[in-house]
Amino acid sequence: MRGQRPPVAEKGAPRVLKEFTMVRVALTGLGFMGKTHLGVYQRLPEVQVAAVCDGVKERLAMTSLDAGGNIAASGGKIDLSAARKYSDYDAMLGEGGFDIVDICLPTYLHAAHAIKALDAGYHVFCEKPMALNGAETDKILAAVKRSGKLFSVGQCLRFWPAYTEVKKLLDSGRWGKLQYAEYARFSAPPGWGWESWLLDGKRSGNAALDLHVHDVDMLLYLHGKPRSLRSNGVFERDGSISHIATLYTYDGFVVTSTGGWNCSDSFGFNMRAFWVLEGATIELDFSKDPAVMVYPKGEQKYAVTLLEGDGYYHELKDFVEGVSKGRGSGVVTGESAAQSVKLCLLEIESAQRRKELSVRL
Ligand SMILES: NC(=O)c1ccc[n+]([C@@H]2O[C@H](COP(=O)([O-])OP(=O)(O)OC[C@H]3O[C@@H](n4cnc5c(N)ncnc54)[C@H](O)[C@@H]3O)[C@@H](O)[C@H]2O)c1
Repeated sequence: MRGQRPPVAEKGAPRVLKEFTMVRVALTGLGFMGKTHLGVYQRLPEVQVAAVCDGVKERLAMTSLDAGGNIAASGGKIDLSAARKYSDYDAMLGEGGFDIVDICLPTYLHAAHAIKALDAGYHVFCEKPMALNGAETDKILAAVKRSGKLFSVGQCLRFWPAYTEVKKLLDSGRWGKLQYAEYARFSAPPGWGWESWLLDGKRSGNAALDLHVHDVDMLLYLHGKPRSLRSNGVFERDGSISHIATLYTYDGFVVTSTGGWNCSDSFGFNMRAFWVLEGATIELDFSKDPAVMVYPKGEQKYAVTLLEGDGYYHELKDFVEGVSKGRGSGVVTGESAAQSVKLCLLEIESAQRRKELSVRL
């Protein structure tokens, strides 16, 4: 479908109406992330939400995006009157009328739903973690290959302005070599999930996969693969891990990470990271304003200016623009998202076996 971009008000510039390709999205899973994605699509003029699907019929009639997840990215009103409504995913895929299937379902449903959509001929954006295990990630990758469709995963930190600015600083070499990096993610238990699926290790992978995959994905993005790792975890009754801490072996610098959701409700949520370089220390802390500070050696500290919007906005904008131009995301690929799942699983294995493990992804 072709549409016309609304005029951009630029002082002194001629009013040019640029043609753009309207992208039609079908979204399944109208919980915390589904509402967050719908909130983003409302702000992208090139997107039409053509269909929505959820197993809970009342959610199909929703008018509010208030979602109650760990990051206040959603909220406000939504008008879904123009979208077709389904409680049966296969029926939605069968009737079609869209270009992208956006999967915001619980993680244990990602693989089956992503593969069905790809095989039915749709581009797919799937929430993180890509899947529960390596066998599932690889089946999705095979479906991407045979379908020739575009695929990406909601590893949103790669688009989150605070992290993208730090990446630019590290890549610039301005502050010398990296000596130490630390990634942390602390949360109260995720109480919002449908049927408490997030607290069920078999369906979510618990925090060691569901929450921690964000930092694992970021450290792979910034530093590449470690040579080995050693993890410890807080184990739950079902054997899954609700808080994990890992030391990674790299040549020339040290990386650690920690993340879990056993914090008190009154604590809420925080993500933070440190990078100690030869010439400066960089701190990212979402409980502070400004969120990213640089502390150079022998110079004044300064705050880093961040792009407007959050990672959810920028990742979906990137994918939708990619679909309209026929190119995939160069930032989050199926392969990169699969590696992040596999590294989390290796950390879980290391904690279970109380052993340092080599990384071969
Ligand atoms: N990127 C992020 O920062 C971030 C944050 C939170 C969650 N997530 C991920 O997003 C995904 C969804 O998590 P959530 O927190 O939104 O969960 P949620 O429980 O809030 O929402 C899940 C929705 O799926 C629906 N559903 C369940 N089974 C269904 C089925 N078979 N068919 C149709 N609908 C069905 C439920 O009714 C519910 O509306 C998970 O993979 C999670 O890990 C990502």
